[in-house]
Amino acid sequence: MGSGSSIAGNDSERGTVMTDNEVVELLAHDMSMEHQAILQYLFAAWVIGGEVGPSVESVARDEMRHFKYFGLAIAELGGKPNMEGPAFQRLTDPTAIVLANIASEDEAVRVYTQHRDLIPDPRIKKLYDRIIEEEMYHGQKFQRMVPKVEGMPPVEFHEPQSPQQETLFRFLEEDIAGEYAAILRYLHQSFVVADGKLGNAIEDRAIDEMKHMGWMAEHKIDSGGEPVLQPAPVQYSTELSEIFQYNIQLEKGAEERYQRHIDGYEDPDLQRVWAHIKFQEEHHTDDFENRLADLNRAPEAQAATPPDASNVKPKTSVGSLFGKPQA
Ligand SMILES: [Fe+2]
Ligand SMILES: [Fe+2]
Ligand SMILES: [Fe+2]
Repeated sequence: MGSGSSIAGNDSERGTVMTDNEVVELLAHDMSMEHQAILQYLFAAWVIGGEVGPSVESVARDEMRHFKYFGLAIAELGGKPNMEGPAFQRLTDPTAIVLANIASEDEAVRVYTQHRDLIPDPRIKKLYDRIIEEEMYHGQKFQRMVPKVEGMPPVEFHEPQSPQQETLFRFLEEDIAGEYAAILRYLHQSFVVADGKLGNAIEDRAIDEMKHMGWMAEHKIDSGGEPVLQPAPVQYSTELSEIFQYNIQLEKGAEERYQRHIDGYEDPDLQRVWAHIKFQEEHHTDDFENRLADLNRAPEAQAATPPDASNVKPKTSVGSLFGKPQA
């Protein structure tokens, strides 16, 4: 990876030299911690629901931004963002959930502090400072939730209890898998495209897909089923026209899937939700079709994307992270 000059810091005077590779390894580890936190908190938000659920979900969205910051830092160091989905805690008792979340935040603060102290690059240290501060804030936020969830009964999951429910669970699981894969695909794209504005637009898509996944998962929980949270296979690309073509193909696939579910399951409320999601997917398809058409009109813009982020450094520096607007 990369050349001899290490973006991770020139610290021969200090006697400890950390290579870009080693820094990427730490960042990749921390991406996995964020990924785990996202899954754990989304699951928690759906299980708890009510007034507290959205507040837990907003922490999951913060973790998505942390995941993105680590992913961007890796891409800028010429490494591969770690998209692997880790195992996460599937707790069903609201009090136990909130306590586990507090423990996860404490653990993140502990690990990130260690990593911040190991990494010589002052810009990456600052990134850690910012994330650590937010994790401490999350810990306090979860602390304040404890009295609100105390005494709330645990959620109970069961297997499908009728052929109709079996169909329902299967449909919802297909939707969750598709949406989860879309989130990963769009987040990865938001790390590797060199154009920050495009990156933010694609990140917005990921947030739409996160809402879709949430609606499907909440519906499954309300029907007594446990959301599995296994993403459909994702293909990661760094080439713009390939990215747009792939997105169009998958968005069209999602539209077909939602139509098939609308036609295959009789439930007016759920059919309305599916139709609403399908409408949003159509909008996504449209947007990517326009972007692809623009790109085909100005093919030189292709060069704005590194052909392979695993061995080419984008032109921007890690410092550009701090200039990016917050989602
Ligand atoms: Fe985080
Ligand atoms: Fe956090
Ligand atoms: Fe979606």
